[in-house]
Order: sequence, then structure tokens, then C-alpha cells
Amino acid sequence: PVKVFNNQRQASLWIAAEIAQIIKQKQTQGAPCVLGLATGSTPIQVYKELVRLHKEEGLSFHNVITFNLDEYFPIPKESLHSYWHFMHENLFNHIDIKKENIHIPDGTLIKEQIEDFCSYYENLIIENGGLDFQLLGIGSTGHIGFNEPGSSINSKTRLITLDRKTRADASSSFYGIQNVPKYAITMGIGTILQAKKIIIAAFTEGKQRIASTVIEGGISSQYPATFLQNHKDTLFVLERASAQGLT
Ligand code: F6R
Repeated sequence: PVKVFNNQRQASLWIAAEIAQIIKQKQTQGAPCVLGLATGSTPIQVYKELVRLHKEEGLSFHNVITFNLDEYFPIPKESLHSYWHFMHENLFNHIDIKKENIHIPDGTLIKEQIEDFCSYYENLIIENGGLDFQLLGIGSTGHIGFNEPGSSINSKTRLITLDRKTRADASSSFYGIQNVPKYAITMGIGTILQAKKIIIAAFTEGKQRIASTVIEGGISSQYPATFLQNHKDTLFVLERASAQGLT
């Protein structure tokens, strides 16, 4: 299904309210709530609203366990470009989540450690009961997480080589494509598809084409986000501009 809002702000408020509801429902059951989170421009206003709900409306994250989708490799945590930094700036530093409940792929490993780390990350999600909810954006290549074209439907957490287009998209914030890392550690498509509920958001006119390809096009590893079409509880959230390409 697809839900189209008037603008990004309304869409973001709605998504934040959905997440808050999942958290509260788990709290009434006395259960942990396992959230899969994304970075990038798309979720920024969602996180802003979650922070507001925490500060002004008493939403607590004490039972929340998070797993981020991806991280550049290699990258130090303190780098302004790391997803570790992004998540702390935009969300974790402003809410009452327990530090030990935050999980982000580690961009500081040495190459020889990556494989073990990836299976550890994958197992940790399972040991915590699996993802109750996953928030996604879409890259211009059709990637979700950093699962670039060619990623298989069963892929798990792993080191991937970023698509040239993805690196070009990131180049302005890195002041040049030569500064964008060549690799990333990402949850796999298979990891993401295990989530009980998924919201994938695409905002702004720039996402028009990829949104319609991913929602209306055939399922293919050439556009990894198309694999979501067969997931039993995935909602595509658009706003007026990003929805313009839909038939
Ligand atoms: C980020 C991620 C990526 C982004 C995608 C869209 O953790 O996994 O798939 O969601 O590249 O990025 P924005 O939102 O910046 O357009």
C-alpha cells in the first residue's frame, strides 16, 4: 500500500506517531520494542518529532532497542559524516534510550573483523526477538540500507561496495566524491524483510522517478527496494511531490 501526504512535515509527523504507538503498545505488554532505523535526509523530521514527543508528551524509550541499517566503512565514530554521529545528533542524545540498547554497524573495524561482526549483528537482532519495525528511505539507485543493485533477496548483514551513483549523491556533503567512503556495512535485504512492519518513505521531487519504479515496476535485484512489494506489512509513504510519478 501507498499513503500520500500533502507535504513532508505531515508525513513525518504521521510516521513518528506510528512509531510512538508501537513503542507504547510494547510498554503496556511489558515487552522490549526493537526498532530498525535509517539515516539520511528522509527521516530527520521523524526523529525531530520523536524527540518532541519525548520532551513534551512524555514518550519514553526505556524499553526501546535500536538497530541501524548501515554505516560507512571505514569511518571513525566522531566523524561528522558517520551514521553513528548522525543518530546521536538527531535522536539518541535527546531521548531516554539506554546506551547499551543502541546498535549501529561499526565503521572502525579492521577488515579481518568484519565478517564476524556482521554475523554477530545479524544474530543480535534475532536474539532480541527480531525487528518489530523498520524505517527506510530509498536511494537513487533503488537501494534500501546500502543494498545496491545486484543485492540478493536473501542477503544478510555484510560489507558492500557503494554504487558510484550513491557516492555521487553523497559527494556534496563530503565536499567531493573522492572523500566519500567506498564501502559500507549494511543489513541485508533478507535482514530487512524479516521485520514485522516496514515503512519506506520518499520525499521531495527528486525521488519521483525512483519511487514510481520501486512501487510500480517489476520486482528485480536491479532495484532492491522492489523486493518490499512482497513483504506482508510494508507501507510506502510519499508526499505530493514525490508521488507525482505514480500512475
Ligand atoms: C540510510 C540508508 C539509505 C538512505 C537512502 C536515502 O541509513 O540506509 O538507504 O535511506 O540513501 O537517503 P536520503 O534520505 O538522504 O535521500
